[in-house]
Formats: sequence, structure tokens, C-alpha cells
Amino acid sequence: KITGIGHYTPETIITNHYFIEKGLDTSNDWIVERTGIHQRRFNKPNSGSSELSHKASLKCLDNAKLSPEDLDLIIVATSTPDHLSFPSTACILQEKLNCKNTPAFDLSAACSGFCFALSTAENYLLNDNYKHILVVGVDCLSSITNLNDRKTAILFGDGAGAVILTKTNSKNSGIIYSKMYSNGTHKDILKIPEGGSKSPINPEVTKNESHYIHMDGKAVFKSAINTTVPAIKEALNSVNLSTNDISYLICHQANKRIIDNIALKLKIPNEKVIINLDKYGNTSAASIPLAMSEFNDTIGFKKGDILVLVGFGAGFTWGVNIVIWE
Ligand code: ACO
Repeated sequence: KITGIGHYTPETIITNHYFIEKGLDTSNDWIVERTGIHQRRFNKPNSGSSELSHKASLKCLDNAKLSPEDLDLIIVATSTPDHLSFPSTACILQEKLNCKNTPAFDLSAACSGFCFALSTAENYLLNDNYKHILVVGVDCLSSITNLNDRKTAILFGDGAGAVILTKTNSKNSGIIYSKMYSNGTHKDILKIPEGGSKSPINPEVTKNESHYIHMDGKAVFKSAINTTVPAIKEALNSVNLSTNDISYLICHQANKRIIDNIALKLKIPNEKVIINLDKYGNTSAASIPLAMSEFNDTIGFKKGDILVLVGFGAGFTWGVNIVIWE
């Protein structure tokens, strides 16, 4: 079950007007109407995902009333690690938290990262060696976004969210369902074309700006809806719940129109749909725990609330977790 939750967002607020002042051919009306985003946060230079993770994790540990030494494992879902390849951001976080013997690793599933990490942590908890697992979703997408490309620049932001999963024997609380999905045939609709092992960074790559996010927005939009709606139905069916039983739907915060479409197709009323992308944009792996944690701090979940978490993103990947809040 989830025994702690916390989030952190950087201080620098980037409004839609920032892009207009920067000279991009866009408008506040276009961005708000097509995405629902009013502003996002950008991390400060030389900070990185580990710093955001650290701040979110401290809040989460405080919320759980646990200390770093209580953690048996740290999983960090991110596509924007502090360093390309290694060391993992999870190891840097482990050092920052000063929990010396705790194993720590990163997990990469783009914007589905948090759902994948929750599923992974849940499986570790079946093993008696693990009691408390810190699961962090963090991304600094501003570091891999071409701020001169109006099609992507306006969408992304930076942030971190964290939960602690604790082993429980109760069948009626905590994570009652998790499923991860991938479809590599859609790998090209959202990607960073170069700068990896296939085509390492060099002046040509930089000149072509192919080390930044490239996206077929329409294809991503359709894939997000076509994959998640059946996955949510399958999830509810397998635990004998209906859409009426859902207390809150918490989708990956990519675009308000995507979330509205998912909710409409499932006939879930607006008041049960948690949205905070207007303030933070798409923070990738951070978006679900960030939305959950902020809601819990402001309005608050109640014991017994049924939360449906839905991630989708590059790969193409998607995932669903159903959580009964305690
Ligand atoms: N300002 C003004 N005009 C713009 C902008 C902008 N910022 N961006 C694109 N346009 C233009 C396009 O160039 C196009 O012009 P044209 O008709 O002259 O060619 C026109 O607006 C329409 O563009 P579309 O791409 O058709 O616009 P659409 O309504 O599809 O909205 C958007 C684009 C917002 C990107 C949408 O497709 C979307 O949200 N897709 C999903 C994105 C997403 O979820 N990505 C993250 C996935 S998660 C992850 O793994 C990172």
C-alpha cells in the first residue's frame, strides 16, 4: 500500500507568454485551447533530476514518517537522468538521502514510467526481503526540448513526485491491480532521434537538432486514447469494478483534450478527474505522482477512495494501476 507521498516542482514559472516573447509563432489562446496548459516549471541550471527527486523524496519520507534507512529499494522512473547512461539518478538520490546500503536503479518507460515503476515495486514486495520501496517519477523535459520548436516547446515542464510502497497482506487496500503494456511498432511517433548509442552526439547531430524530442503530435494523441481506454476497461473488469466505482481518475498529464476524451469515452464525470497540467505542463514520469500528491495536500484522498492511475508515452508504452487509498 502507499504509505507516503510527496512532490516537488522547481521555482521558475514559465508562462505561455515566455514563448511568444522568445519569438515563437504561437499564442496563449492556441496553447490553452489545444493543450490546457497555462504555465510550466523549469529546473534551474546545473540541478538535474536528482535534486528534484531528493526534495520530493524528503517530503514523501516525512509524510510516511519513515527515515531513509527504512528503505529497502529505490526505483527512479525517468527519461532525463542527471547523466546520460550512468551513474543512475537513483544512485545519486541514494547518496543524497544518505541511505548507504539501499539498492537503487533507474527505470525508463517515458511518460508511463511511474506506472511501470509502481508495478515493478509491487512485484519486489512479493519477496520477503523488501518492506518499504521508494518509487520516484521525475523528469526535466526542458533539458531535452527544442525551445525553438513551437510544436513541442510549449508542452513540457519539470517536476518530481514520489511514493513509498509498503508490504501489506491486506487484499482490500493498496495496489489491487497493475498492468504494463508496450508496442514498439509505434516507436517512431515520439522519440529523440539521435544522441544515443546508435548515433552518438556530434556537431552534425547538434546542428540538426535531432538530440531533442521529435513528435508526431496527432499520432501520439490518437494512440494515447486508443490504448488507455480499453486498458482501463480491462483493469476494472478484472477486479470486478465499474467506472461508477472510481473515486478519481489520474491520467498522465499530457494534454487536457486527451484526458477529457478518455473520461468522456468512459463516462467519468469531470469532478472525478484530477488535472493539474494547467500549472505544470507535461512532466512525463512525474506527472501522475505530482497530480496525486498535490491533490492529497490540498483536497485530500479519503480512506477507501479508488484511484485509477493511467500512464501513456513514448515507446509506445501505457499502463494502469488501481489503488485503494488508506
Ligand atoms: N502554436 C501555434 N500553432 C501551432 C503550434 C503552436 N504552439 N504548434 C503547432 N501549431 C500549428 C501546426 O503547425 C499546424 O499548422 P498547419 O495546419 O499550418 O500545419 C496547426 O497548428 C495544427 O497542428 P496540429 O499538430 O494538427 O495540432 P493539434 O490540434 O494536433 O495539437 C498537439 C497539437 C497539442 C501537440 C496535440 O497533437 C497533442 O497534444 N498531441 C499529444 C502530445 C502528447 O501527449 N505528447 C506527450 C506524450 S507523453 C511522452 O511520452 C513524452
